[in-house]
Amino acid sequence: MTASYDFLNASPVIPVIAIESLEHAIPLAEALVAGGIINLEVTLRTQYGLDAIRQISEHVPAANVGVGTVCSAKEFDAALDAGASFVVSPGQSDELFERALLTDIPFLPGAVTATEVMAAKTAGFSILKFFPAGTSGGAAAIKAFSGPFADIQFVPTGGIKPDNAHEYLSLSNVRAVGGTWLTPSEAIQTGRWDEIEAIARRASTLSK
Ligand code: 3PG
Repeated sequence: MTASYDFLNASPVIPVIAIESLEHAIPLAEALVAGGIINLEVTLRTQYGLDAIRQISEHVPAANVGVGTVCSAKEFDAALDAGASFVVSPGQSDELFERALLTDIPFLPGAVTATEVMAAKTAGFSILKFFPAGTSGGAAAIKAFSGPFADIQFVPTGGIKPDNAHEYLSLSNVRAVGGTWLTPSEAIQTGRWDEIEAIARRASTLSK
């Protein structure tokens, strides 16, 4: 596996995006990029996920669009076909590990227990999604993992907001944080792209 995770250096904040209407994909991506947020995780939790990835990768070249909520090899392949440049899963499976290892696409499997971290590490992955962070022990749990798993880094999501993001980002084994707070549904539905750009601009000041 030769996947590079350097894209995470661009910003320590990754919006977790659910596209409810395909027409929102491009203006939303443009607003986030204008606010300084480049890495975009478009989830497959709505029917528009793949088409949104395709549109963003074709029309918003400054964005680095990846896919989230990938739960099967079939979804992994479909997302790559749509143009995703990184892949995130809420969990892990042998099927996903095997598929990811056949590519040079960065893959972040999910892990919140020591056993899951060990399974991902054994499979060859060292940057893991930690979801749902808030109900899985939060920053304290991730900090505790730095003892036995000094070579593993985490990207926590779930319950992270501007007021607690720094608790996570201050940990040496947190590489980035993610969340839906950057893309409030109501602002998207009403096309308040300036508001989303402003949220992104504030988020882009968060640092490791
Ligand atoms: C995810 O899939 O990463 C989460 O749904 C994000 O959780 P949040 O809505 O609490 O940010």
